[in-house]
Amino acid sequence: MRKRVDTQENSFSAASDVQGTAGVQRKERAPSRWSLKRGLFAILIIFILAPFTLKILPELIQHLVYTHRVSVPFFVDLSQPADLSLNHTINMYLTSEKGISLGVWHTVPESQWKEAQGKDLAWYQNTLSDGSPVFIYLHGNTGTRAAPHRVGVAKVLSALGYHVLVPDYRGFGDSTGEPTEAGLSTDALYLYNWVKKRSGSSLVVIWGHSLGTGVATNAAVKLLKQDVVFDGVMLEGAFNSARQNIPVNPFSWYYWTFPGYGYFFPEPWANNKVVFPTEENLKKMKSPILFLHAEDDHLVPIQVAQQMYEVAASAQNAERVKLVSFDGSLGYLHNGLYRDPHLPDIIKKFVQSL
Ligand SMILES: *[C@@H]1O[C@H](CO)[C@@H](O)[C@H](O)[C@H]1NC(C)=O
Repeated sequence: MRKRVDTQENSFSAASDVQGTAGVQRKERAPSRWSLKRGLFAILIIFILAPFTLKILPELIQHLVYTHRVSVPFFVDLSQPADLSLNHTINMYLTSEKGISLGVWHTVPESQWKEAQGKDLAWYQNTLSDGSPVFIYLHGNTGTRAAPHRVGVAKVLSALGYHVLVPDYRGFGDSTGEPTEAGLSTDALYLYNWVKKRSGSSLVVIWGHSLGTGVATNAAVKLLKQDVVFDGVMLEGAFNSARQNIPVNPFSWYYWTFPGYGYFFPEPWANNKVVFPTEENLKKMKSPILFLHAEDDHLVPIQVAQQMYEVAASAQNAERVKLVSFDGSLGYLHNGLYRDPHLPDIIKKFVQSL
C-alpha cells in the first residue's frame, strides 16, 4: 500500500517538474494529506476490523494453528531436492485420498548415492525392499519438507544406511488440500501403507517431530484398530495438549508474536476440532517408543516429555519406552537436536532393539 502511495507521489512531482510553477506546489500538499488519511484508514482496518474478521472465520484459525502456508525456506524448488545437497533423493506425488496430492521426498541410504544418480521413480521404489530400515519423518507445523532441520534429519538417517520418506501433509508445501487433524493422520497412514507394500520385511519406523508427534500417535492408534503396530516410533519435541497451558502450547506462537490476539482465540484447537490426544494415545500404543527432547526446548518444556514418558512406560514397560534428553547448554531448543554428534548412535541402538 505504501509503495503505491509513493509511486503516485513520485509521478505527481515528476509532472510538477515539467510544469515548474508555484501553483503546483500547493497542489502537491493535497495528495499527501489525502494519502495520510488513507494510511490512517488502512491502520484502522488492520487493527480493528481484521481481528473481528479472524474471530468470524474459523478457516483463518486453521491457518494460524498449522501455519502451513508459510513456505520456509523461501525460494526452494521442492521438486529439486538435489539443490539442498540431497543428491540421492527423488521427489514424488502420492494421492492420499481423492483430490489430495502429497509432495514426498524419498532419500535412499547414503551408500547408494552414486548409483542413485539419474534414476527414476521405479528404481527408487525397488530400493525400498533392499532390507535397510525405512523411516517416515512426520514434520512440525510450519514450512515444508525443505526446512533445514528436516533436511538435517534426513541426512543423519541416510548416513546411517536407512531410507527416509518425508511428506508434506495436505496443505503444506506443494501438497494440495487444507490441513485438519484427521486429514493429517490419513496422509501419514496412506504413506505408511504405501511404504509397507514396497518394503518387504524391512523395519518401518515413524519419526514425528513437534506437530508430527501428534500425527504419529494418532496414526498409531488408528492402525491398532486393524491390529497393526508400527515397528518403532520416535517422538522428538513431543507436546501434550492435555497438560500444556496455552502459553507453552506449540501452536500458540502467535500469542507472543501478536499479544492482543489471545483475546480472540481462547482455544484455537477446540474451535477447529484440533485435539491431538497424545497422552491418551500413548496409553494405547504397543510400539517401542523413543522420546528425544532438548532440555532447553522453549516450546515444550522437558517436564512435559518426562510426564509423557512415564505415561507410556507405565502402559508398556521401561524396556520398550525410552527418553533421551539433550543438555540445555547445547542450545538445540525445539528443532536443533539433529545436530547432536551422539544422535546417530542413539538412533542405531533404538533400531537394533526393534
Ligand atoms: C552426493 O551426496 C553424498 C552424500 O551426502 C556426498 O557424499 C557426495 O559428495 C555428493 N556428491 C555430489 C556430486 O554432490
